[in-house]
Amino acid sequence: MKEQSKPWGGRFQEPTHKLVEAFTASISYDRRLFRYDIEGSIAHARMLARQGIISKGDARSIAAGLKGILSDIEQGIFEFSSEDEDIHMAIEKALIKRIGDAGAKLHTGRSRNDQVALDVRLYLRAEILEIVDCLALLKAVIIELAKEEVDTILPGYTHLQKAQPVLLAHYLLAYREMLDRDESRLRDCYRRVNVLPLGAAALAGSSLPIDRVYVARQLKFPEISKNSMDTVSDRDFIAEFIFAASLTMMHLSRFCEDLILWSTGEFNFVEISDAFTTGSSIMPQKKNPDVAELIRGKTGRIYGNLVALLTLLKGLPMSYNRDLQEDKEPLFDTVDTVKACLKILTEMIRHMKFNREKMQKEAEGGFATATDLAEYLVMKGVPFREAHGVVGKLVRLCIESQKDLASLSLEELCRFCPSIGEDVYDCLSLQNSVKSRKSYGGTAGEQVREQIRQLEAQAGNMSKRKKSV
Ligand code: ARG
Repeated sequence: MKEQSKPWGGRFQEPTHKLVEAFTASISYDRRLFRYDIEGSIAHARMLARQGIISKGDARSIAAGLKGILSDIEQGIFEFSSEDEDIHMAIEKALIKRIGDAGAKLHTGRSRNDQVALDVRLYLRAEILEIVDCLALLKAVIIELAKEEVDTILPGYTHLQKAQPVLLAHYLLAYREMLDRDESRLRDCYRRVNVLPLGAAALAGSSLPIDRVYVARQLKFPEISKNSMDTVSDRDFIAEFIFAASLTMMHLSRFCEDLILWSTGEFNFVEISDAFTTGSSIMPQKKNPDVAELIRGKTGRIYGNLVALLTLLKGLPMSYNRDLQEDKEPLFDTVDTVKACLKILTEMIRHMKFNREKMQKEAEGGFATATDLAEYLVMKGVPFREAHGVVGKLVRLCIESQKDLASLSLEELCRFCPSIGEDVYDCLSLQNSVKSRKSYGGTAGEQVREQIRQLEAQAGNMSKRKKSV
């Protein structure tokens, strides 16, 4: 009989074709799971010994061998080969080489199907916490900026047309709200990631007296999966994670879009620091917001990852199918991308400067206080629809005579509506306009300051409870 290097060699008479080896291998990318694979295997071996399935001595040499492999990989001296197909087989093979027969007992009572589910869950559990930390930093910088800009007024836009004056702090806190929801989605997803799959074996469970509760306790899983068939075929938690990441990316992308617009000569609301922009190879005057553009661009890739995974899953028959190996690249790419984007955006906004004068100037033009004037008339007893019409005519007059509302004389104003009095000019000032929007969640300084106070208190409490997701 030919020598067989594969674990399934017994049933096979011919060696795997080289093309198949290369085509089916995932080791080039799933090697990043090594730490979790080893952690899971040590817990599994301990359980096998505790249950009397293997000897305590064997479990000890398995653990020692695996720790040696871990350190080899960490030092970069472990030799990876695509013949080993994936990280699970590479580590098992190295273990057998290192400790002999005892190593060949590790795979007792488990399959790569539940093993890979375990590794990915352990990996994602750690990564979600890291991403939550990255979000926390970005949120903290946003609060810092909001505190500095609590008196800065800029035009708020709808349809990208000037609408009403708002505080820059209010604008910034809008993004903070989005990031809060992102964090809560991630924490919610974490609960469903945090379920032990090991013990499902290939698809039907094990005939050996394994103890899943013990493994769960060692690996700190508060829950154990309940159905072995579902366990090996379930990738919902990855889809959920990529969806949560997609929304985060969408929020970052929108923030970046604002910054890109704001850094144009036309807006000139913000100056992104030289260190976070790039120049043009041909046009000497250019300073381009490439970082913000790339975050916006990478958002598309994350959506692509989500669609790739959902499409991968939709036609799969029960239970494990090799298609599932294709879950990893979209997952890893999403984790890497979202972390990189959060980190660089945090630094970029920490180093940018708002142009307060330009914001104020633009808020003064464009009739941003037209609604205030209409509401002033309402308070004088004019029905809102009529007030809207009066102010509309006044705006037209201003456009024709190249004035703004506050520069019309009382006489001019009264010609359109006799209820207007001297006090009208108060409502036409930007400061008063902003100050008056004190409905809950509105842009008035008192509301915004209270929001900041609450968010800071919340951040204080969170850091006390840190890591207890
Ligand atoms: N590399 C595989 C994956 O990522 C591991 C599981 C392989 N299982 C199997 N029955 N071939 O899904």
